[in-house]
Amino acid sequence: MSSSAQRVATFGTTIFTEMNQLAQEYQALNLGQGKPDFDTPSEILQQLIHFLQTGQHNQYAPGPGTPSLRKAVADHAARFYDLTIDPLEGVVVTAGATEAIFASILGLVDPGDEVIVFEPFYDSYVPDIIMANATPVYVPLYPPDWTFDPDELRAAFSKRTRALIINTPQNPTGRVFTHDELGLIAQLCIEHDVTVISDEVYEHLYFAPVAHTPIATLPGMFERTVTISSAGKLFSATGWKVGWVYGPPDLVAAVGRAHQFITFAVHHPTQETIAYALNLPDTYYSEFQAMYSAKRQLMMNALDAAGLTYRVPEGTYFLLANYNDVFQGSPMEFARHMIRKVGVVCIPPESFYSEQHAHIGKGYVRFAFCKSDEMLEQVQQRLARLNV
Ligand SMILES: Cc1ncc(COP(=O)(O)O)c(C=O)c1O
Repeated sequence: MSSSAQRVATFGTTIFTEMNQLAQEYQALNLGQGKPDFDTPSEILQQLIHFLQTGQHNQYAPGPGTPSLRKAVADHAARFYDLTIDPLEGVVVTAGATEAIFASILGLVDPGDEVIVFEPFYDSYVPDIIMANATPVYVPLYPPDWTFDPDELRAAFSKRTRALIINTPQNPTGRVFTHDELGLIAQLCIEHDVTVISDEVYEHLYFAPVAHTPIATLPGMFERTVTISSAGKLFSATGWKVGWVYGPPDLVAAVGRAHQFITFAVHHPTQETIAYALNLPDTYYSEFQAMYSAKRQLMMNALDAAGLTYRVPEGTYFLLANYNDVFQGSPMEFARHMIRKVGVVCIPPESFYSEQHAHIGKGYVRFAFCKSDEMLEQVQQRLARLNV
């Protein structure tokens, strides 16, 4: 008899474990996992040290989050999106966006409900849905433009649809959904009375002329949307695992009911620090975008020189590249070849797909360009080996 509960029996070990091991073995440049190889801005680190040492922040924080961080989240939504959020009733602080997504699904979806998911997807959505005893319903994004077919989206809605998860800017495709795409999603969610769980962890990581629109700002959407974000990407502090959910009090209260028994409260001094960071002036945000715009260019230069093709990412620090012109084989075979022969780690997209649609990702691998400029320049030199 297996000791594992059925609920988790199908969950494999993440692809990142194998890729990170191989990366070490071959001393490969690791563009696999989406974690920066550079540090959190020192101004923000200094704040953390300050809050650790002031002596009042080393015990449990309030379960829904510190008043300072909840207010900072509300102020940020007002500053960038003109949204009015109640800092006390409309925000819950979580252990990263990962917990925010799980608590949202547990708090807002019943067993037997269906949850619509676009794919390729961030890999925690589907296990979360399964752990809630609900059923994922997949809507694929098609290359080369990584858009959905409106008829397929319409057909995905049923009487059992309870929620839809959207991620924009989108990992792994680098898409930022257009106003028209968001409009159709919104219209269908209103028509079918469906709750939206909007994962916006890359909300500031988009490249002009494209801009990010939270789906909660569309008419009739605020009251049916919980919006999720995280400090990890925005402040290059993925190890801190501070995220949050904001939205209308009734939905946020449901998320909070789940959250209180998952983590209860999040690391206290870090919350105070993120409150400070969210309140940084607009220049922080524009410099952050400029930094990633330059890294995106270095990444694209490297791929161009190697003959890999891709859709220019509009957002995030990911890019899906097609290798069909330079290699014949599965994404896994290509990723292993890349590590052993080229010395660069990329991620095969299998874990971002259901079995049903895994064929769509054939010929593609994901690169994460949240890395130092020096590393991205070395990647260009190494990728030249692909052609020899
Ligand atoms: C789309 C998406 N959502 C959520 C997360 C997780 O965020 P956190 O580290 O805050 O849990 C990630 C991290 O890569 C992500 O890409």
